[in-house]
Amino acid sequence: MSMSASTAFTAAIVPAAGLGTRFLPTTKAVPKELLPVVDTPGIEYVAREAAEAGATRLIIVTSPGKDAVAQYFQPRPELEKTLEDRGKTELLAKVRRAPNLLAVETAIQEEALGLGHAVGCAEPNLRPEDEAVAVLLPDDLVLPTGVLARMAKVREEKGGTVLCAFDIPREEISAYGVFDVEDTEDGDVKKVNGMVEKPPADEAPSTFAAAGRYLLDRAIFDALKRITPGAGGELQLTDAIALLIAEGHPVHVVVHRGGRHDLGNPGGFLRAAVDFALEHPEYGPSLRAWLRDRVGSE
Ligand code: UTP
Repeated sequence: MSMSASTAFTAAIVPAAGLGTRFLPTTKAVPKELLPVVDTPGIEYVAREAAEAGATRLIIVTSPGKDAVAQYFQPRPELEKTLEDRGKTELLAKVRRAPNLLAVETAIQEEALGLGHAVGCAEPNLRPEDEAVAVLLPDDLVLPTGVLARMAKVREEKGGTVLCAFDIPREEISAYGVFDVEDTEDGDVKKVNGMVEKPPADEAPSTFAAAGRYLLDRAIFDALKRITPGAGGELQLTDAIALLIAEGHPVHVVVHRGGRHDLGNPGGFLRAAVDFALEHPEYGPSLRAWLRDRVGSE
């Protein structure tokens, strides 16, 4: 698939400056983005997804206490030498994996004022040629990967901003940002006429909920400067997108018909860890046997 320079994206923003309160007390000292799903931090999966979709630069938004998140993507020459000397080639490959994915830079969000504010903090990192930028939330694993490439294709055809949606059971919808949509000729692509954050189930305009993947036109940064605190007193990315829609900017969603893990709370994180571990050649078989035994004895 060829994409013209004006519609392709090369920069991906990963906001990782939140307080992670749902993971307290661990997040007093360890950023939740570094918690291991089996042996690999969730943020590495998300960085890999961005690289697979064509991003060459990852802009991680961190806060002053969360330097470890960016450090994770730096090479560790002394550790690499030790592993090399000991002939630990598999471990060496694992250690080198994250730094080799794409070029990582950071933006600092001094205070956790909301996701919209965090994205806005990355604006100085953009280059003049970045007409669109991807945003991936590191606590949202969207499986299988590949939806960003589909979103880029939709932007190529329709312009504007493209988001990712999941079709969620109505009884769960009030936990999400929800799209007001109309159909297009493609069953998995909808035109967005509005967006509301966490509506009551009977007022939700659809059952299509926002997932943590965004392909944002650069116009978003101007909209982010014009919003005021919304749900939870935070500057919401949803509100800036809603502003763009109201001003006639084209916004579409790609409906992702796949799975998802929410790593942002302990319950979702545990499911992801078990799901990934069950597929793991080393840990899978014994975990499966132990789980059968453990659950069977209840
Ligand atoms: P979340 O709401 O899931 O993260 O935001 P949180 O605020 O850290 O977690 P809780 O609710 O206190 O448990 C989604 C993503 O946006 C980032 C978070 O780091 C997370 O990756 N974020 C959120 C920021 O970077 N800055 C903010 O001000 C808020």
